[in-house]
Amino acid sequence: MSTNIKRIGVLTSGGDAPGMNAAVRAVVRSAAFYKIECAAIYQGYQGLIDNKVKMMNARGVNNIINKGGTILKSARCLEFRTKEGRKKAFETIQKHQIDGLVVIGGDGSFTGAMIFQSEYNIPVMGIPGTIDNDIYGTTHTIGYDTALNTVIGAIDKIRDTAISHNRLFFVEVMGRDAGHIALNAGIGAGAEEVLIPEENMGLERLLESLKRSEKSGKSSSIVVIAEGDKSGKNVFEIAEYVEKNLPYYDVRVSVLGHMQRGGSPTCFDRVLASRMGVFAVESLLAGKSNMMVGLKNEEMILSPFEKAIKGKSEINKDLIRVSDILTI
Ligand code: F6P
Repeated sequence: MSTNIKRIGVLTSGGDAPGMNAAVRAVVRSAAFYKIECAAIYQGYQGLIDNKVKMMNARGVNNIINKGGTILKSARCLEFRTKEGRKKAFETIQKHQIDGLVVIGGDGSFTGAMIFQSEYNIPVMGIPGTIDNDIYGTTHTIGYDTALNTVIGAIDKIRDTAISHNRLFFVEVMGRDAGHIALNAGIGAGAEEVLIPEENMGLERLLESLKRSEKSGKSSSIVVIAEGDKSGKNVFEIAEYVEKNLPYYDVRVSVLGHMQRGGSPTCFDRVLASRMGVFAVESLLAGKSNMMVGLKNEEMILSPFEKAIKGKSEINKDLIRVSDILTI
């Protein structure tokens, strides 16, 4: 390893995601393995600004690999968007003699990291942690797999009551502007239709599809709607619209909300977070900076922050085809 990095800092930022703790553990322990120190920064960039820093050794991250949320806490920090905020943050970095930073978060967090790096030339490495899976440069973000499993678990339960009452349920799932959660969980839970921002199916087609379902003998149905869907109506308005046009349906709405961000991470997310944490530290020590670690074809890769932020994590069109075929 070729740099003079002796102490790194680690923080979690933006919306929390299951598996962030496993990533923190991996960063702290990799630092110990490579005989450098690790400072834990609490509450994301806000903690850098407010000097909430504590040294962390390998034992400090015992028993967290299975825990949801983030022991470091997280924040969406508006102050870090200002020059003054970033100046304070850098003062904390200097005070604690931190010479490399690992940021676990989503694209907003990486935008902040990129600006910070360019202003103060501090080496920064990103680890993608968000349930939305909306980051270019990795096929999976930490937390996405757990969120998918949480969503299908919830929809399975909704299905029980939907069948019992012959009802049509509209289930809204998270994902911000991306439809990854909706599409994958929709297929996994056997949804009737999936509405995602990337593919505006239009409400007329939804009505046609529901009419066909009714005619084909289906007595209950689940429609999954991504929160970022572009139909122009929110989930309650869509439900009302369908109820008005297809009065034979008894319609209910369920917004899954923040439960999708909680819970113990799946094995997939724990392994992913562990690999990413190790690779992030090794990359910093190898002199890399301003990059995000990612997973591609089972291998760890690096992408420049700029690409990770600006690139689009495309929806797999084949999943749309599969979903259409299976809802016959
Ligand atoms: O980015 C993760 C996410 O859970 C999105 O799916 C959702 O749109 C957003 O965060 C909600 O953010 P907050 O918890 O700040 O309301």
